[in-house]
Amino acid sequence: MDSHNQDLKNGHENNHVSKKLKPSIWISDSEINDEFSHHEPGTARINNGSFGSCPSSILAAQQQWQLKFLCQPDDFYFNHLQKGILESRTFIKNLINADDVEEISIVDNATTAVAVVLQQIGWAFNEGRFQKGDAAVMLHYAYGAVKKSIQAYVSRAGGYVIEAHLPFPVRSNQEIITEFRKALEKGKSNGGKIRLAVIDHITSMPSVVIPVRDLIQICREEGVDQVFVDGAHSIGSIEVNVKEIGADFYTSNFHKWLFCPPSAAFLYCKKSNIQSELHHPVVSDKYGNGLALESAWIGTRDYSSQLVIPSVLDFVNRFEGGIEGIRKRNHDAVVEMGEMLAEAWGTNLGSPPDMCSSMVMVGLPVSLGISSEDDALRLRTHLRERFSVEVPIHYQEVKDGEIGGQNMNSCLITGYARISHQVYNRVDDYEKFRDAINQLVRDGFTCKMLLTS
Ligand SMILES: Cc1ncc(COP(=O)(O)O)c(C=O)c1O
Repeated sequence: MDSHNQDLKNGHENNHVSKKLKPSIWISDSEINDEFSHHEPGTARINNGSFGSCPSSILAAQQQWQLKFLCQPDDFYFNHLQKGILESRTFIKNLINADDVEEISIVDNATTAVAVVLQQIGWAFNEGRFQKGDAAVMLHYAYGAVKKSIQAYVSRAGGYVIEAHLPFPVRSNQEIITEFRKALEKGKSNGGKIRLAVIDHITSMPSVVIPVRDLIQICREEGVDQVFVDGAHSIGSIEVNVKEIGADFYTSNFHKWLFCPPSAAFLYCKKSNIQSELHHPVVSDKYGNGLALESAWIGTRDYSSQLVIPSVLDFVNRFEGGIEGIRKRNHDAVVEMGEMLAEAWGTNLGSPPDMCSSMVMVGLPVSLGISSEDDALRLRTHLRERFSVEVPIHYQEVKDGEIGGQNMNSCLITGYARISHQVYNRVDDYEKFRDAINQLVRDGFTCKMLLTS
């Protein structure tokens, strides 16, 4: 197939987004280096997961929006802002296969989306639609801000909160499904209703792809009122098709895995009568016009990170296969690098490859003596400061009863690194990490040493 036909073919297969003519030559390594030349030289950035990354061509497009505002703010406010945001919402609707653009709001980040949904739950308790003792279920590995929001909006209003304890390392979706069912049983055991389930699509730490469709189906069978999927890491790293997923609410960040500048996220709210109960926590004169319009004006600020969203298509379509191609190559590469590291250190991955996205958990050598979350954080800092490797470390508590399980070695591992792969990463980045850990092991390093240094 010649390159032009190949381009058209890839355009057709490229997700649900509108098509543009594709370049006849895919982006080269040196062009990728140029796009990310603002990254600190010499640092192995294998942590795209935390804050994402943004290429310079999208930063330039963002600056055009900023200048458009500064050039004539009144004209921008009256004639361009809402039109631009509607264009971004339409792009998102197509990207995630939503039914209607009215289901899409753009907010700053996943943390804000959580606040929107949970505020509505809090009001339902306070206004007597939910009774004290009604339950909310979330994963034990829910993100810290999500857990705090549940505390702020649900526990405080009298809700009963249950955590589904997920096994880690995890070997199959079934292990997750079993634990989730147990949590729902517990939620119903005090006689109340389960009003909300918050389910991660990809947990943050440890990072695992959760079988959301199965869990949501179980929620429906068990009569859970509302299901909210926290997909902070999902868009750009795994497929997001909200119609197939079937949640009431779904959020994902654009700044993590879809190359947008910080920060922008969408909140999808399936059409229903709950939609009118949702409000942005920052109230402007748009209050009462629906969440999408409320979110599109929360006072004077820089909206450029929301307006630039459709421009990511120009960037991703420079790569063979567009978004899907990038996703697949990132997944394959991160699994390959994870397996290379695990083999070098005599450890294992935290989950099978099909439960990984563009992030993989890799067991660290036991001799490093990681025995608390503080140790994990100190080791991360040490890797940054001494070796210029940026990678988050997860502390995995080993409970007495677990030692002697099926895989003795994985039961003893108390530290896992969460490695990411994004288009700018090279094999050297992972080799640098491998060598740093090997050096520490050779030196007889343990995390205790960081206490005295
Ligand atoms: C699972 C999960 N939820 C929510 C968030 C919050 O994202 P943000 O800081 O962009 O609001 C994160 C951030 O890493 C996350 O991993």
